[in-house]
Amino acid sequence: MNLTVIDHPLARHYLSVLRNKQTPPEAFRLAAKGLTYTLVLEATKRLPLTQTTIETPLETTVGYEVGNVVAVAVLRAGLGMLDAVLETIPHVKVGFAGVQRDEETATPQEYYAKLPDLSGATVLILEPMLATGGSLSWAVSKVKASGATDITALCVVTAPEGVKRMYEEHPDVHIVAAAHDRELNDRYYIVPGLGDMGDRLFGTL
Ligand code: URA
Repeated sequence: MNLTVIDHPLARHYLSVLRNKQTPPEAFRLAAKGLTYTLVLEATKRLPLTQTTIETPLETTVGYEVGNVVAVAVLRAGLGMLDAVLETIPHVKVGFAGVQRDEETATPQEYYAKLPDLSGATVLILEPMLATGGSLSWAVSKVKASGATDITALCVVTAPEGVKRMYEEHPDVHIVAAAHDRELNDRYYIVPGLGDMGDRLFGTL
């Protein structure tokens, strides 16, 4: 299985804040940030390290440094996860992938892409809502075309349809999520879900 659903009390708390339709945008943004910290810790568990030698005030000892990590925020909802990534991962570089879904067909339409060189990098794709999987699959193809081979997607909520599609189209990509929900509705929203993540983050309801 390419999906890890984290089991952490803080993740459950923050996810409940996000799911609650009464949560206003400012509290929603804070909860998205808090939840992303927990996703980052899980997603970076196997991050490659370089061993170094460091001097403490007392003696020489072994130290470690993380290697090249690139976060790719899928616009616009992925921006709600970016601050937590910037605060936790040293030297992280950031790419952006702009895709919007056609509301009728739910197919991804690219409108912007700016990626750093990804060869040798650990890539974390920030795509909070894995619904049909169209946007994430498109973003993964994009980062693979720029040389990425070590790719993890950070999602707030996944749907069975999106996970299945990712497994079929990109079985090498690991997905870390806070919840795996029941299904998509006829408008391709995740149920029970949390509504439109971008609208709730930025108050454009
Ligand atoms: N995108 C969202 O923001 N919410 C969903 O439920 C599905 C896709």
